[in-house]
Amino acid sequence: MLWIKYYYHQRINQTLKTIKTMKNIFKLTLVLLSALVAFTSCNNSGQTDKKSGALAGNVAEKVYVAPGEHDEFYAFISGGFSGQLSVYGLPSGRLFKVIPVFSQDAEKAYGYNEETKPMLNTSHGFVPWDDAHHPDISQTNGVIDGRWVFINGNNTPRIAKIDLTTFETTEIIEVPNSAGNHSSSFVTENTEYVVAGTRFSVPIPQKDMPIKDYKGNFKGSLSFISVDPEHGHMDLKFQLIMPGFDYDLAHPGRGKSHGWFFFSTYNSEEASTLLEVNASQNDKDFIAAVNWKKIEEYVNNGGGTKMPTNYAHNVYDESTHMATTTMKKEVLVVDPSEVPGAVYLLPTPKSPHGCDVDPTGEYIVGNGKLSANLTVHSFTKMLDAIENKKFAGDAYGIPILNFEDVLAGVVEQPGLGPLHTEFDDKGNAYTTFFISSEVVKWKVGTWEVVDRQPCYYSVGHLMIPGGNSQKPWGKYVVAMNKITKDRYLPTGPEVTQSAQLYDISGDKMELLLDFPTIGEPHYAAGCPADLIKPRSKKIFNLEDNKHPYAVKNEADTKVVREGNVVHIYMTTIRSHFAPDNIEGIKVGDKVYFHVTNLEQDYDVPHGISIIGANTSELLIMPGQTETFLWEPKQVGVWPFYCTDFCSALHQEMQGYVRVSPASSNVELKWSLGEDIE
Ligand code: CUA
Repeated sequence: MLWIKYYYHQRINQTLKTIKTMKNIFKLTLVLLSALVAFTSCNNSGQTDKKSGALAGNVAEKVYVAPGEHDEFYAFISGGFSGQLSVYGLPSGRLFKVIPVFSQDAEKAYGYNEETKPMLNTSHGFVPWDDAHHPDISQTNGVIDGRWVFINGNNTPRIAKIDLTTFETTEIIEVPNSAGNHSSSFVTENTEYVVAGTRFSVPIPQKDMPIKDYKGNFKGSLSFISVDPEHGHMDLKFQLIMPGFDYDLAHPGRGKSHGWFFFSTYNSEEASTLLEVNASQNDKDFIAAVNWKKIEEYVNNGGGTKMPTNYAHNVYDESTHMATTTMKKEVLVVDPSEVPGAVYLLPTPKSPHGCDVDPTGEYIVGNGKLSANLTVHSFTKMLDAIENKKFAGDAYGIPILNFEDVLAGVVEQPGLGPLHTEFDDKGNAYTTFFISSEVVKWKVGTWEVVDRQPCYYSVGHLMIPGGNSQKPWGKYVVAMNKITKDRYLPTGPEVTQSAQLYDISGDKMELLLDFPTIGEPHYAAGCPADLIKPRSKKIFNLEDNKHPYAVKNEADTKVVREGNVVHIYMTTIRSHFAPDNIEGIKVGDKVYFHVTNLEQDYDVPHGISIIGANTSELLIMPGQTETFLWEPKQVGVWPFYCTDFCSALHQEMQGYVRVSPASSNVELKWSLGEDIE
């Protein structure tokens, strides 16, 4: 997290140097200098003022969940650069599970076992890491339904879907023509689409060209990925090819604005270098308003152009317990000029970051990072301006509306460095301010600031369960901070990442709890536990297991040699493997352990690994089959064992593989409960 401080110092130093040679930059200087002052004082106050965050005596009760009791809410907090998604309970802040999504996870064998390796395939090959940013839970009629959670991989653009019956990643679709998949992954109000926008504009299609020719030649893509209402199957339906801005964040219209999607942009200057200065020239950038229903109708009637491309679509099948990759070769692209009336640009001050829509769908909040005020646009006024063709000009043929014509109101000087806004169910909005390090509560409609609470320190996103839907559960807000400094016991130069929980049920926000997070807590999504808990799967039905290497009873276990490839069909049950003695394996063989867990009881996984295996252990749930590859390098008799404490005789759950020289003719044999001759 020191990088933030470093980044800011670098940013200020470089800016000061550049200013000498730049004109018309006085305002920017002021903003950045005040940012520096505020940031420094925020750090200092962090050291000395932390007691001011001291809590009233009764707050412990408000986060206390007694042993054996359940939390009221689930929170799904992105792991940022860990590439994963963590599951917490609120209000306790207890961590339940880290769901592996974009990164290999040795704990669960995700990305190591043969079944899940395909999940990480991309057009760039096997990419076992990403930068996970914005989880969003599926919705029905604008209300969170708790079926799936989607999250974007930022670095190698991908959208993942996690099934909330199993809490496992079941689908990952790569996003072509995208780079820095940041304005993602947000769902429309019936989960018709999960939407992904590019941060970086790039040549579309990609090609070898001079970077200096960016302007006018690089483009930004906004991708609409359809979601099958029953099974959740994702499909890249169309991509809108937009001007070469940076598309930063997005949110769907809802209620009256359902059918529209809003994207904040910066770098409408179309700079390719020193963006800290060059992308801060224009007084206003834009929020792009996209009428996706109109474009959907256009493509359903044969509109759009099929562009050759290459991207991976990875699907995990729960019945085979296996993922497969399909490489897709085509994408349907739409030029906004082909669909008049589908896209408009709303001028929004100073490089807006968050682009947030209130529960009624009327207000679109642009959080201008370098602006002193918060700008709120009106959907109704936008429609009116469009109707009356009140345009201020156009950008690459896309009409630009007048700022004043669409402005609903301004929250005056609420803080420094606004980033993101969420909403409660009482007509209030909550905005995070990175530089002044606080959450500010203001009234939607009157725009008056009614409360503010400090964060420790430098808050990024915030999350109210349902706070970006039509139905927020406005009891808590979670602030996700970029810096923790002195809040926990130090752990060397790298200190823990952190979130903070506030009670927002009263007039004034109240800080209740700090809790550490896995990786950078970039954004989160939450909902009442009751939406998810009753449907949580307990076991996989063994009868339904269609894994091609599954065996459903010990009598069917076997070892099969095909040249130098050996398949071991193995089972586990408390407290032994079948078979547990295997001979006739040779140095140079490729040995696949296909292990089926015969258990049909809740919470009885078994694990397995063998000495020298360069994958990870398997962690196999009841009724499931998983596979790892072992390539023995040395002659000997090598043990394997259960890696998950499964019974009082867990330590007895072990076996041996005899490995002979490549040239040997030791016969292939396997057994359980008898001595091999
Ligand atoms: Cu099976 Cu430990």
